[in-house]
Amino acid sequence: MDFQGKVILITGATGGMGSEIAKKLAKEECKLILIARREEKLKEMCKKFSSNKTECVYKKCDVSNKEEVRKSVKFAHEKYGRIDLAILTAGVLIPNPIETMDSSIIEKSMKINFFGTVYFLESLFSVMKKQKTATIAVTSTLPDGRGLAGWGAYGASKAAISWLVESLRAEAKQKYNINLLTIKPGSVETPMIKDYHRQGSVTSDVAADVILRGIRKEKKVIQFPIMQVIVIKVGEIVPPFLYDIVPISHRKGPDYPEPEEK
Ligand SMILES: NC(=O)c1ccc[n+]([C@@H]2O[C@H](COP(=O)([O-])OP(=O)(O)OC[C@H]3O[C@@H](n4cnc5c(N)ncnc54)[C@H](OP(=O)(O)O)[C@@H]3O)[C@@H](O)[C@H]2O)c1
Repeated sequence: MDFQGKVILITGATGGMGSEIAKKLAKEECKLILIARREEKLKEMCKKFSSNKTECVYKKCDVSNKEEVRKSVKFAHEKYGRIDLAILTAGVLIPNPIETMDSSIIEKSMKINFFGTVYFLESLFSVMKKQKTATIAVTSTLPDGRGLAGWGAYGASKAAISWLVESLRAEAKQKYNINLLTIKPGSVETPMIKDYHRQGSVTSDVAADVILRGIRKEKKVIQFPIMQVIVIKVGEIVPPFLYDIVPISHRKGPDYPEPEEK
């Protein structure tokens, strides 16, 4: 896929990976629609990215609000008459240790990460089905196949994304020529993980390069960094009795917040 001249919608555009992806695409002479909640930041970014060759517009949107998502897609479609590529990166990471087992954390994670994706897929499909070709890249996470102590709410929302996207992928391609791909990052140095030290993490600059290269090559799944991919894949085949003896502090990682018992 060549990005030049394409209409590209990015959610989570104010975040670590989203903003880096937008910055790189701004050099490719595209028409960018940036989406997030922080309007001032979106405005600032569009001002910086707009040139005589790149157009940049923005729309404030809370992805957990179905109506706001519908209006964002409508805004992009009315502005440009098509959407060639959507890169969905909006998301939140909320720890949920067993001591504070709280359904509201799980609801919030599902509402933003999972349903935020579902609402976009729904609205984008209605536009993209009529086009001859389109691509949607959805962000899950690398460890989406196994539970991790302390990160159940986040992991469940991302595992749900991976399942949904893989379930839709063949039909989307065969019936409507829509390419659906899953982005599965390991650790990327962004505001999301600023409080958690993660060994082997990559910068958001590197992550954006890997993601854009994967989209360009029309990959089905983009997973990185390679060392973390290997560790996660090995972890996936370890039997449960062995998996459960890994110390929970190790699974939670350094700097995990110390919860107070409820
Ligand atoms: N960083 C990692 O190590 C890592 C690893 C695996 C997967 N991921 C996934 O990669 C994606 C990007 O992560 P990141 O590290 O770049 O995160 P980040 O820097 O925290 O950025 C998150 C982005 O999501 C937006 N967002 C959050 N809640 C939203 C809501 N309710 N409505 C609309 N936008 C919302 C934020 O914008 P506003 O606050 O302006 O709304 C921001 O632009 C996420 O889906 C994350 O789960 C990250």
